[in-house]
Amino acid sequence: MAEDDNIPTHVAVIMDGNGRWARKRGRPRHAGHRAGVGAVRETVEVAAKRGISYLTVFAFSSENWSRPREEISKLMGLFVEALQREVDELHQNNVRLRFIGARQQLQPGLQDKIAAAEQQTAGNTGLGLQVAVAYGGRWDIVQAVRRLAMRVKQGHLSVDDIDDDSVAQELELAGIPDPDLLIRTGGEQRISNFLLWNLAYAELWFCDALWPDFGERQFDEALTFFARRERRFGHTGEQVKAVTS
Ligand code: IPE
Ligand code: IPE
Ligand code: MG
Repeated sequence: MAEDDNIPTHVAVIMDGNGRWARKRGRPRHAGHRAGVGAVRETVEVAAKRGISYLTVFAFSSENWSRPREEISKLMGLFVEALQREVDELHQNNVRLRFIGARQQLQPGLQDKIAAAEQQTAGNTGLGLQVAVAYGGRWDIVQAVRRLAMRVKQGHLSVDDIDDDSVAQELELAGIPDPDLLIRTGGEQRISNFLLWNLAYAELWFCDALWPDFGERQFDEALTFFARRERRFGHTGEQVKAVTS
């Protein structure tokens, strides 16, 4: 287990490997997505238990729209079903649920469920759970650039005032600290267009476990890895030690 004083504030997760999990069992890919919902549940519970403040999970990327129609439609159905089933319990557990991504691309029924879930849990003060659906890091940055350009055009913002903070304030995770730790399951070691801006200084942890098999043991392994990192943010190791000792 990780040391208590070095728990990340924000953990981001690329939940990968559902399709392979299903194929290994001779089952269709969507069976893997269904099994993956259980792993999300366990991950949320562990995050809350360990005192993590924010958890952001990647459920469906901008690029995943290129998958077979059948798989997309099964996935969207699963999102609706999972929301229906889980939101009350998340609410009881004081979880604040938010969605990030191009939600206008989703079917209206799902958009309604998302809005209702966000509204129901908006006042909660426990774990902040962000679910990325139809999300892409480049899309997020493009949206931010567009909004900034609009403000410049309208005369509310000068080009010289555009800085890290003003860009960050227009991103989907505005107001939420950057992820400290990124976990990716499924064996691939890449970002796949997740939170490109926000992951600038995240510690990266990859594991071979396929997403449906991810649970408390793997999560704790990632937290232990994180607790041992020295985060330097460009400083020297000596500078960091002088501040922390
Ligand atoms: C992650 O699992 C879930 C989504 C991308 C929706 P995959 O569906 O990518 O599973 P693999 O990588 O093909 O095994
Ligand atoms: C990343 O997984 C997206 C999600 C987990 C939602 P992918 O399976 O889509 O990533 P690539 O295509 O292997 O990079
Ligand atoms: Mg994959």
